[in-house]
Amino acid sequence: MYGVLLAGGTGSRLWPLTEYANKHTLPVYDRPMIFHPLGNITAAGIQDIVVITGGEHYEQVRSLLDTLHDDEKNTRHLLNLSSEEKLNLRYALQDMPAGIADALARAHCIVKDNAVAVMLADNIFEQDTILQEAVKNFQKGAHIFLKEIPEDQLYEKGKDGKLRAKYGMARLSGNTVIDIMEKPSPEQLPSRYAVTGAYLYDADVFRIVPNLRPSQRGELEITDVNNAYIKQGTMTYTIVDGWWADAGESKEGLFQASTMVREKVLKRTV
Ligand code: DAU
Repeated sequence: MYGVLLAGGTGSRLWPLTEYANKHTLPVYDRPMIFHPLGNITAAGIQDIVVITGGEHYEQVRSLLDTLHDDEKNTRHLLNLSSEEKLNLRYALQDMPAGIADALARAHCIVKDNAVAVMLADNIFEQDTILQEAVKNFQKGAHIFLKEIPEDQLYEKGKDGKLRAKYGMARLSGNTVIDIMEKPSPEQLPSRYAVTGAYLYDADVFRIVPNLRPSQRGELEITDVNNAYIKQGTMTYTIVDGWWADAGESKEGLFQASTMVREKVLKRTV
């Protein structure tokens, strides 16, 4: 299985912080944002990783990750990598922020017919080993990671002034996900389970994406990919233990993520 880290997009919600820095290089407590999800991928035993970059200052992502291979700057300890573990990072460019599914499709020429563990580069999980068990057990189809969100943290105002959930939200029936809605209104909310930015897919995903149509916001949506797997009956899920943060959703989200990582790090060192 390959890892795919999606670090394209515009980072507009964090402007003006993103005026001079790529969103994924901004600090989340003690390290740049992108090191957190990269650490989730390597903790699952995956060392072949494709990084999709794009948007403003995309070249900063590459120079930052180059420090992993630089003997002097050596940032490998941030990923808890031993000296034997070889990290094979490759890069592909997403020239326009055409959506998460579009970004993922750009990994195809490198990963070919392999399954992928995909992480959004702004998602932070309390558990470093969030992907580990699911990667070990993965055979086919798709697997997503859900987190129940308290009502008072679910919504934000859209450009039209109306309230919308901040995330893709899952409709569950027993042990099955039966539908996912991307950022529904409060009236449409199917449950309080948000779809986090970690996904496992078999190689079918590269046949699904070319058949998608852009959504109303003009993007190829990862939610449409997930709904295609749900229709096929090959979607499974895990409920995430511990906290989860989307550090790119707002400046407040970025601050909260830093605070929660700080608490986690301090707990460890006590
Ligand atoms: O954080 C989880 C949520 O992420 C999910 O619940 C939603 O279903 C999913 O659509 C996504 O929503 P966001 O609105 O938070 O996505 P955002 O546009 O912030 O993009 C998240 C990351 O995906 C971003 O840090 C980099 C990557 N990305 C995004 C876009 C739009 C790309 O690589 N290319 C892109 O074109």
